[in-house]
Amino acid sequence: MTYTVSAEQERREADLVERVVRSFDGCSDPRLKQLMTSLVHHLHAFAREVRLSEEEWTKGIEFLTAAGHITDDKRQEFILLSDVLGLSMQTIGINNEAYGDATEATVFGPFFVENSPEIPLGGSISGVASGEPCWVEGTVSDSEGQPVAGARIEVWEADEEGLYDVQHDDGRTAARGHLFSDAEGRYSFWGVTPTPYPIPSDGPVGKMLAAVGRSPMRASHLHFMVSAEGQRTLVTHIFVSGDELLDADTVFGVKESLVKKFERQAPGSPTPDGRVVDDSWSRVSFDIVLAPAGS
Ligand code: BEZ
Ligand code: FE
Repeated sequence: MTYTVSAEQERREADLVERVVRSFDGCSDPRLKQLMTSLVHHLHAFAREVRLSEEEWTKGIEFLTAAGHITDDKRQEFILLSDVLGLSMQTIGINNEAYGDATEATVFGPFFVENSPEIPLGGSISGVASGEPCWVEGTVSDSEGQPVAGARIEVWEADEEGLYDVQHDDGRTAARGHLFSDAEGRYSFWGVTPTPYPIPSDGPVGKMLAAVGRSPMRASHLHFMVSAEGQRTLVTHIFVSGDELLDADTVFGVKESLVKKFERQAPGSPTPDGRVVDDSWSRVSFDIVLAPAGS
């Protein structure tokens, strides 16, 4: 839909934009000035292009107010909003430029928790989390192919019910932990096989998704954050090949290079660490390549 306005109306609207932009003339921080100037240009361009009605903008304000009200130290509606609009992935892409064969980054999400338990190599992050056991192994190397020893590997995931530990109300810590790569850069641990789950959809972002006919589901995944001295910190996930949500992840987080084969193993089949698992279990391999810091 295009809407044409008179020359006088056009002049008045453009004049307002210029006056707002000029209000930043005295800003002594050049980057802040650039951000504010560009933001004003784009916001006004949006309002003018869609001929934003006052009722619509009131609804917009109500939406942002509701996002603020539902946000607390466990629920971050603004991150969700940024995620479902693809802005998180756009920002991640801008700030994690391709570098050789360095592993691609993806969305951080709202469920990382500081001070996760440390587990030994080959240990388990699962705790009381429900789900099929999953053996995860791989290496961490730099972009020249050298192993990275002592890399800190943070991992976190939802349980089989589709909930992170912080979404249960019993204060549990489960399906999260951290470990360190060994001298050859190797790592391994037990978690649970990822399953699809919805992002929190009982707030304004969920209502917006419903209004536009979008699903709140995320493709099955396991989160990683890998840091090591001299290397760019990598925030990423691995996704489960064959998952039908790979093309419909509601936060646009899927990248083909991050889709991995989770191979289901028969009940009772021997595990890499000689454990006896009565039910089925799965295994996946994920080799991580870090880009140099500052790249
Ligand atoms: C997550 O994967 O944990 C997540 C990412 C974006 C929005 C909600 C959840
Ligand atoms: Fe997640």
